Amino acid sequence: MNRPAGWRSAMLVWAAAGTVSAQPTSVVYGPHNLSAGGTGPVRAVMEDQVCIFCHTPHNASPIKPLWNRALPVEAYTIYRSNSLDALPDQPTGTSKMCLSCHDGTIALGSVVSRDMPIQMAGGITTMPAGSSLLGTDLSDDHPISFRYDSGLAAKDNKLRQPSSLPHQILLDRNAELQCTSCHDAHNNVNGNFLVMNNDQSQLCLSCHQVGTTSITGHQQCSACHQPHTAPSGPYLLRAATVSQTCVSCHDGSVAGAANIAGDLNKPWVHDTNSPVDPPGHMSEHTSCSSCHDPHTMQPGAGRAPSVHPSFGKIAGMSASGSFVNNASYEFEVCFKCHGMNSNIQPTVPRQITATSMLAQFSPSAVSSHPVEAPGHNNQVPSLKPGWTTGSMVYCSDCHGSDSGSKGGGSGPDGTHGSHNGPLLTARYDTEDYTTESASAYALCYTCHDRNSILSENSSFKGHRKHIVKERTPCAACHDAHGIPSGQGNSVNNSNLINFATGIVLPDPRTGRLEFRDTGMFRGECFLSCHGKDHSPLKYED
Ligand code: HEC
Ligand code: HEC
Ligand code: HEC
Ligand code: HEC
Ligand code: HEC
Ligand code: HEC
Ligand code: HEC
Ligand code: HEC
Ligand code: HEC
Ligand code: HEC
Ligand code: HEC
Repeated sequence: MNRPAGWRSAMLVWAAAGTVSAQPTSVVYGPHNLSAGGTGPVRAVMEDQVCIFCHTPHNASPIKPLWNRALPVEAYTIYRSNSLDALPDQPTGTSKMCLSCHDGTIALGSVVSRDMPIQMAGGITTMPAGSSLLGTDLSDDHPISFRYDSGLAAKDNKLRQPSSLPHQILLDRNAELQCTSCHDAHNNVNGNFLVMNNDQSQLCLSCHQVGTTSITGHQQCSACHQPHTAPSGPYLLRAATVSQTCVSCHDGSVAGAANIAGDLNKPWVHDTNSPVDPPGHMSEHTSCSSCHDPHTMQPGAGRAPSVHPSFGKIAGMSASGSFVNNASYEFEVCFKCHGMNSNIQPTVPRQITATSMLAQFSPSAVSSHPVEAPGHNNQVPSLKPGWTTGSMVYCSDCHGSDSGSKGGGSGPDGTHGSHNGPLLTARYDTEDYTTESASAYALCYTCHDRNSILSENSSFKGHRKHIVKERTPCAACHDAHGIPSGQGNSVNNSNLINFATGIVLPDPRTGRLEFRDTGMFRGECFLSCHGKDHSPLKYED
């Protein structure tokens, strides 16, 4: 695996005659011409030989190809991340040759064939500060000096087989990927001494197959990544965290890119400021890539319960509690953190504290909003046009931006941030003695008709009396999610009834705190509320 033999003959010609053939691809034409005649900012005061900074025909170090420099001995900090399969060790081979200038530890003019270092113009000794100075911390640079073989590609199906690499890309004789796999120190026709043009990410795509997206703004890897001195370290992102990388465009500064930054300053957010490489991928930390797979997300809207196109191929937890690589439904993505063992405290303390959100929305739940499966009740007269008892809803119909379309605004949708807790698309007051208004329960009234709820001739006849006159919030009686079958039952917990224990107390006479469903639009309650004992009180249509 060598570069074309032309170089060797060029070397011989040069060694014999002391001249360089001036081909356009020659090292003479780029910043690696460090001779006094070079055009870059870094060049010698007097020295007119070009190759000498790296090679010499005489007295060279024992390292091929006639290498003229000492090699650095520094211990480098190596690239690491949670998803890396290769485990690169200290730099080897040609990478050390590059680093003999680019890590900034050895004077540029220091060559084996001269006793004194070649003097550089402008007082420069080692690599000047700037993007070419990689330093000895390589943890923010593309990994190098590891075997890229079929075994590695077999472990990581997002890598192409090395046997399919285009001819420009070379691995060294140990099948290791080096600086020289992407760069050719002699040839600057593609800029940055790249072995091939990377304008359309061709170089990256020669080795990586991370998936495709039709989002125009995401076509180039360089939209989010940079191969060197990446602010994130792991994952080589253009900003310190995933969110900052995304928000650098999604902050109103880039035409067409929805402004998410505004939502992230609201009081209720997914805290997406976590480090880029959270320990484990399942919970604790959220980042944009907890819900959006950076490489496969697509534009366009989804339909409940299907996963949104904008989520792409993202991992989740199925309704049965197993890990899925590629979620089919939105709720699976939410369940991967909220499904089980969520340490988020219930917003409203209730008679039944669900132990698992999976069970709250399960088709076997006593009653639930139709997130996982269509609902259980075929008599829901309050549903507004567009909604039926066969409809399904997204978690994100209720949980998302208050300025997006679901909250009645024109901003971007999504479970990013809201002024309404807990991260609700619209207001939902849960305090006792809330004065009823279209806005106090705006969340429920987006799908349930306010007039129907407050009329005395449909479903619960006592709605108006309780909600308007007694100023009892919906949350005093209703659980917005659902009641698991193992925890509640169809007599006491139909119609999403699960009393809020901060508002509703047991009936002092019977000691019972109970709703009893006694038939369609009929029921009775044992409880005490606003000083009124129900021992029991009944309603019927
Ligand atoms: C900035 C450093 C640098 C300069 C200047 C430089 N080279 Fe090289 N050269 C390298 C490195 C690094 C390698 C080994 C990596 C490789 O094979 O690409 C190399 C390898 C070679 C090889 C061996 C290629 C092979 O296939 O084994 C030849 C021949 C060569 N250089 C010729 C030249 C000539 C002639 C010049 C002057 C016109 C020159 N080089 C200038 C860095 C340099
Ligand atoms: C003899 C020292 C030396 C060696 C060895 C060397 N470089 Fe450089 N390289 C330089 C200098 C000096 C610059 C210009 C820095 C500047 O302009 O600030 C440079 C610039 C670059 C650039 C930026 C080009 C541009 O258009 O701005 C790349 C890429 C690069 N080198 C890659 C390599 C790679 C890869 C190797 C090893 C194959 C290598 N270099 C070996 C000294 C060296
Ligand atoms: C996987 C491919 C790849 C590897 C491996 C790689 N580079 Fe680069 N390098 C690039 C690309 C692509 C660019 C151009 C970045 C741009 O356009 O902003 C670049 C740019 C550079 C630059 C110019 C400064 C900059 O950051 O843009 C230097 C210097 C450089 N590389 C040196 C090295 C050295 C030294 C090594 C080995 C330690 C190395 N590269 C390994 C792909 C690579
Ligand atoms: C010569 C082949 C090659 C080229 C070209 C290449 N890469 Fe890589 N890249 C690899 C290999 C192999 C790995 C190691 C993957 C692993 O072990 O999981 C890697 C690792 C990475 C990683 C770190 C992955 C992780 O799990 O932490 C990122 C990010 C990355 N490459 C981005 C890029 C970008 C962006 C480009 C284009 C500038 C690029 N690569 C060009 C082969 C290449
Ligand atoms: C819209 C932003 C974005 C674009 C465009 C993008 N990436 Fe990424 N990439 C990321 C983020 C963010 C991560 C961090 C991983 C995570 O949080 O899931 C990542 C991770 C990676 C990884 C390591 C994890 C993995 O999935 O294997 C590789 C390799 C990678 N990207 C390569 C590329 C390549 C190659 C391209 C161009 C074809 C590209 N990326 C385009 C944002 C992007
Ligand atoms: C370089 C700028 C840039 C970066 C960085 C960026 N985006 Fe985008 N994104 C855009 C643009 C522009 C669009 C508009 C649609 C298009 O271009 O097709 C877009 C569209 C989207 C869409 C599709 C919206 C729709 O339904 O039409 C999503 C989702 C998205 N971005 C999320 C992200 C995430 C998550 C990240 C970080 C991993 C990110 N973006 C990073 C520029 C960017
Ligand atoms: C990667 C894990 C993760 C994923 C995936 C996730 N969340 Fe969260 N969620 C959290 C964490 C952690 C919090 C606590 C706030 C914080 O620190 O981010 C939270 C907070 C919330 C809150 C506010 C609750 C409160 O009391 O603070 C709601 C509502 C919520 N998430 C809904 C969702 C929905 C809907 C989805 C799916 C679209 C989802 N989450 C996906 C981890 C996640
Ligand atoms: C019909 C609207 C609605 C749907 C659908 C919905 N939620 Fe909620 N959610 C609420 C309301 C309202 C609260 C406030 C607590 C209450 O009323 O008991 C809440 C509370 C929460 C909380 C805070 C913890 C708690 O229990 O109070 C989290 C986290 C949450 N929901 C996540 C989700 C996830 C994940 C989904 C989908 C699997 C989902 N929600 C579906 C309305 C909804
Ligand atoms: C995104 C639309 C949507 C929102 C917002 C919404 N609901 Fe519903 N709701 C539905 C649908 C659809 C059904 C029908 C389910 C069925 O047939 O069992 C339903 C059913 C109900 C039921 C009857 C459930 C049963 O099993 O008998 C109650 C009670 C209810 N919702 C209360 C509320 C409350 C309280 C709110 C505000 C926190 C709310 N809803 C917000 C869509 C919504
Ligand atoms: C908890 C899950 C979750 C997290 C974390 C998350 N999003 Fe979203 N995002 C969503 C949902 C849900 C949508 C709405 C999808 C739909 O309606 O099609 C969305 C939509 C979007 C859209 C399209 C908005 C529009 O209306 O065009 C963009 C852009 C976006 N998200 C970017 C981001 C960025 C940037 C981050 C990190 C700061 C992020 N998201 C974090 C869940 C999430
Ligand atoms: C005092 C307790 C209580 C309060 C407060 C209450 N509800 Fe109900 N609600 C019930 C009962 C009981 C039923 C069951 C009626 C039946 O089918 O027997 C019910 C049924 C419903 C239904 C399903 C039938 C229908 O009318 O479509 C919806 C939707 C509903 N309530 C929404 C709300 C909303 C929205 C609020 C707040 C604005 C609210 N409820 C406040 C007790 C209450």
